[in-house]
Amino acid sequence: MGSVKSLPSIKLLESKVGSVEFKTPLLAASGTWAYGLEFLNHPLQKFLGGFVTKSLSVKSSEGNPMPRLYETESGMLNSIGLQNMGIDAFIQNVEPQLKAAKSSYVLSVYAQRVEDFKILAEKANACSAVAIEINISCPNIDKGGLEFSSDPKTTAEVVSQVKAAVKKPLWVKLSPNVTSISDIAVAAESAGADAISMINTLLGMSINIDSKKPWLGRKMGGLSGPAIRPVAIERVYRTYSKIKIPIVGMGGITSSRDVIEFLLAGATVVQIGTWNFRDPFCYEKMSEEIARYLQKNKFSSVQELIGLAHR
Ligand SMILES: Cc1cc2nc3c(=O)[nH]c(=O)nc-3n(C[C@H](O)[C@H](O)[C@H](O)COP(=O)(O)O)c2cc1C
Repeated sequence: MGSVKSLPSIKLLESKVGSVEFKTPLLAASGTWAYGLEFLNHPLQKFLGGFVTKSLSVKSSEGNPMPRLYETESGMLNSIGLQNMGIDAFIQNVEPQLKAAKSSYVLSVYAQRVEDFKILAEKANACSAVAIEINISCPNIDKGGLEFSSDPKTTAEVVSQVKAAVKKPLWVKLSPNVTSISDIAVAAESAGADAISMINTLLGMSINIDSKKPWLGRKMGGLSGPAIRPVAIERVYRTYSKIKIPIVGMGGITSSRDVIEFLLAGATVVQIGTWNFRDPFCYEKMSEEIARYLQKNKFSSVQELIGLAHR
């Protein structure tokens, strides 16, 4: 059996989200790979399909009060609150480095007002990003975020406005903290989304029994990591049968088995988030194991796995 390092095996992993090509279906998720500079010319790039930037806003933001992270038995709670350098600083200081390295990256943006989303979309047109992902599902900010993605109408409004302003493929990132994420996905698709990214974190909280106060400075946060994987798989599976555009699946991925599970449920590619804090080098092992699985099961491309669990 050929190693993935040899060209034929890595070719099995070539993936596509609409018109955007990735060398593997493994992308690093927003908020867990910063702005991509740390591993820019690292050998792991050979196995990383791409990464999504930390969500950027019109103005820089310091995020929420500390403490902002709390580890749970099988995941983590975070209330970072979209701390970021702001889109202009990104375009000036980071983007030229990503462009020079021909980095395959998706620009994530968030805003509290539709007008700001439009400003961000226009600025994104000047970037070398392969796509833009709008984060309308952050549970860690008081305004915007969840307010957009908890209703099909507001989702459709923001998506159609951004779509009119942006010249890149538009990925819309949705929240599981709603009654029916698939109805929101349908609304986003009708309004012009090119792909649905799902899921963002689940609202969660933990309390310190000694201080009798919540562990997180903002009290509540977003739960991510292995604990949320079955929830994410169910949401991806359910949404796959309702929309035609690709799904970028995520939530609790730690291994090649988890990646394959997401693809079988209907994801076209996946994003890996919390696991980067445990093993940022996981991409090589995952690529090798997925290629081996494909060879063993006589598939000629990873794309043949997409949605197979629906048969
Ligand atoms: C520390 C941290 C920061 C995050 N920041 C963002 C963010 O800025 N924008 C965003 O869309 N999602 C953000 N997320 C959510 C992840 O991109 C992902 O949707 C979620 O964590 C589920 O995937 P995982 O279980 O593999 O981490 C963040 C997650 C974590 C753990």
